Amino acid sequence: MGKEINAGLIGFGTIGRGVARLMLERSGEFMQKKGFALKLKRIADLDVAAPRGLDLPKEMLTTDAQAVLNDPEIEVVIELIGGLEPARTFVLRALEQGKSVVTANKALLAQFGDELFRAAREHGGELAFEASVCGGIPILRVLRQGLFTDRIVSLYGILNGTTNYILTKMAEEGGRFEEVLRQAQDAGFAEADPTMDVSGKDAAQKLAILLRIGFGASVTPEAMFVEGIERIGRQDIEDAEELGYAIKLLAISKRTERGIEARVHPAMIPKGALLASIRDEFNAVELVGDWVGPQVFYGRGAGERPTANAVVSDLVELAERRLEGGGSRAGELLSEAGKTTLVPMEEVVLPYYVRMLALDQPGVLGQIAELLSEEGISIASVIQKGRAQFQGAVPVVIMTHEATEAGMRRAIQRIDALSVVRDRTQVIRVEEL
Ligand code: HSE
Repeated sequence: MGKEINAGLIGFGTIGRGVARLMLERSGEFMQKKGFALKLKRIADLDVAAPRGLDLPKEMLTTDAQAVLNDPEIEVVIELIGGLEPARTFVLRALEQGKSVVTANKALLAQFGDELFRAAREHGGELAFEASVCGGIPILRVLRQGLFTDRIVSLYGILNGTTNYILTKMAEEGGRFEEVLRQAQDAGFAEADPTMDVSGKDAAQKLAILLRIGFGASVTPEAMFVEGIERIGRQDIEDAEELGYAIKLLAISKRTERGIEARVHPAMIPKGALLASIRDEFNAVELVGDWVGPQVFYGRGAGERPTANAVVSDLVELAERRLEGGGSRAGELLSEAGKTTLVPMEEVVLPYYVRMLALDQPGVLGQIAELLSEEGISIASVIQKGRAQFQGAVPVVIMTHEATEAGMRRAIQRIDALSVVRDRTQVIRVEEL
């Protein structure tokens, strides 16, 4: 053996504890295979007193992140505090000193990826982040290595476990959104602030990272079209079931002649599609490579053990690379910022599910159909659900053929302005996959 690499951890929460546990349990075994010693030297967290069920020497713990960042013996820093600051400052500080960094911080990478990869390249270090997308699924490694030589044509991901859990329980057990969200929080999948999950922002941050690695594109979550699952109700779930669809929160990216599509929103997908069978808090990515064709990756996207495995696998890889020498490979991850052409959401073309609450009177459907036709939207099917129950109004569901988002938005605005339409019309995009 002889060769040794020291690592330092900043952030001793659930994932940090998992990393320490995995290192204690298994590092001897994998180091035997790799032929070098990998040691977790110091752990920094504001709270070092909370019991974590681990037997660690007291001097290993510190409340001062600088004690990890400034320790010359620590060559790899693991950042697990999350959020933008002070995480960004810590990561930059580590990189500027020539250290390598492992992080699970999707928000940081989605926002400041180029700055961080540039710093890594400049100072000869590496920045690894497998845990930031889909927790335990090694999707970034797949894109960087196995599919490096291919060109990804399209990617559909269920990248958020919390929303997938909510939608699954609503469909299978008939729960209401708020009840099921509470269950997800109790089960520990939802972020401290579940709005990140529910609003689609968490999935958008992950999609930004996938776009960088899989499409060489630099797209911030703010530049994408992002819609959450807040407005998905029981009626939508029941209609989807009846029409042969499942509703999933999808993160979608496609290469088109006009540029790259990058969007996150709930979508109806055929019940027979592979992604429709992804239940509970699981994640999945279905992609099409120009050469490899379709591939699907499935697994746990969150939680202590899957995420810790992703962090430690990065750690082993970076330690190995440092021992081998050679320059930083972070330059490969620099995307051509400013050169990515995003297709505006208004130009995206899809079929739609449209549900209105309309008066049950002669001519009402005719008025709605007229407005759709004026926007060039063709109707595929219409279902009127029962007879007037709510103050003379009934739910009317229209499935359309492909239409532009812009045309659909204009049509809905006009439909909602009709005196015979009550309540706000619900629109869900359909992805036939
Ligand atoms: N809150 C995330 C999810 C897990 O529900 O998928 C961490 O990325």
